[in-house]
Amino acid sequence: MHAVNTISPRTQYFLDKEEQFGAHNYHPLPVVLTRGEGVFVWDVDDRRYYDFLSGYSAINQGHCHPRIIKTFIEQAQKLTLTSRAFHNNMLGEFAEFITHFFGYDKVLPMNTGAEAVETGLKLARRWGYEVKGVAPNKAKIIVCADNFHGRTINIVSFSTDNDSRRDFGPFTPGYEVIPYNNIAALQAALQDPNVVAFMVEPIQGEAGVVVPDDGYLAKAAAMCREADVLLIADEIQTGLARTGRMLACDHEGVRPDILLLGKALSGGTMPVSAVLADDEIMLTIKPGEHGSTYGGNPLACKVAITSLQVLVDEKMAENSAIQGEYLRQELLAMNHPHISVVRGKGLFNAIVIEHPNKEAAWEICMEMKENGLLAKPTHGDRIRFAPPLLIDRKQIDECVGIIKKSMEKW
Ligand SMILES: Cc1ncc(COP(=O)(O)O)c(C=O)c1O
Repeated sequence: MHAVNTISPRTQYFLDKEEQFGAHNYHPLPVVLTRGEGVFVWDVDDRRYYDFLSGYSAINQGHCHPRIIKTFIEQAQKLTLTSRAFHNNMLGEFAEFITHFFGYDKVLPMNTGAEAVETGLKLARRWGYEVKGVAPNKAKIIVCADNFHGRTINIVSFSTDNDSRRDFGPFTPGYEVIPYNNIAALQAALQDPNVVAFMVEPIQGEAGVVVPDDGYLAKAAAMCREADVLLIADEIQTGLARTGRMLACDHEGVRPDILLLGKALSGGTMPVSAVLADDEIMLTIKPGEHGSTYGGNPLACKVAITSLQVLVDEKMAENSAIQGEYLRQELLAMNHPHISVVRGKGLFNAIVIEHPNKEAAWEICMEMKENGLLAKPTHGDRIRFAPPLLIDRKQIDECVGIIKKSMEKW
């Protein structure tokens, strides 16, 4: 029942350094990676693994995608950062490209996902006061229970995860938490005229790939429109082909008022995030009122264009839909007594482990590591399966074989 846990002296050397000198804010699997290519990563002992986490979906295009790396190197040799005190010749190109790509008037570039979320929230409040006419300091934003939108104090203020909040207060007011996938709760919350926005993950990623009912997002969007409330879609994890469409919102034909992107916008090479909205919202922020030193830097801009282009040229959304369907079918066919749920969309999937041993999901991940596949439990009993989107059917077969083998003894 217990995972064989072979940690080489070489691996242990790096684990010890991190433990001694790095903050203990993560609990990673004991594997130390040195290189990656496509769906694979290699550890310090040159053992090869399938990457079934893809940097929490930042590596949708696969590790070190040659076109993205080529763009990265070429631009890095020319100009990397100007700050926004001056113009650079890439920001305008990127802004034109991404606004046409997703169909919005304007983009506001940032770096991390959390910054994109903060930007979206600021925009919504500003719009609430200046366009909707909410009284000063009364704006309210609706969010969902079990959300994950990042780690700033403002964002954890409306988290429902105790680990994310404990002893980080006092928290920011102005948020109302409602249950996810609950239209009636949203309807009730929208009655308050001070509500300016509803922010939602189209599929809740960190919660364990929780897929709402068909039609939830479309209904929510219609209700928000009716109530003159902005819909903010946090597609930082679900976007960019992960779920089998370019955006998870596309499954329901929903166009959010504010679209948040991050992670795979750089194919895993650097932090790049973006907020997209139309002029009525975006132009409420004036010079000097928001920004970031690295936001819109020429390296990020150029890399983001190539990262988006690669998704389209290599039909990654289409492949994600096909292989994801196949993966779920194969996982269900395993009919394993301790897999209580298989869920997901495209290559954004999770299984739920039901076992009296509370450490079962972790130990299964350790076993999978031994057998050449890296995945990580979330919230104890859920294991996310989200490989890079260029994985093919033969590789999925091999991975299902690894998962089967790793769960044989359970
Ligand atoms: C839906 C969602 N929003 C926001 C974030 C925060 O992104 P970052 O870690 O880049 O700040 C994440 C990260 O996992 C996420 O999944």
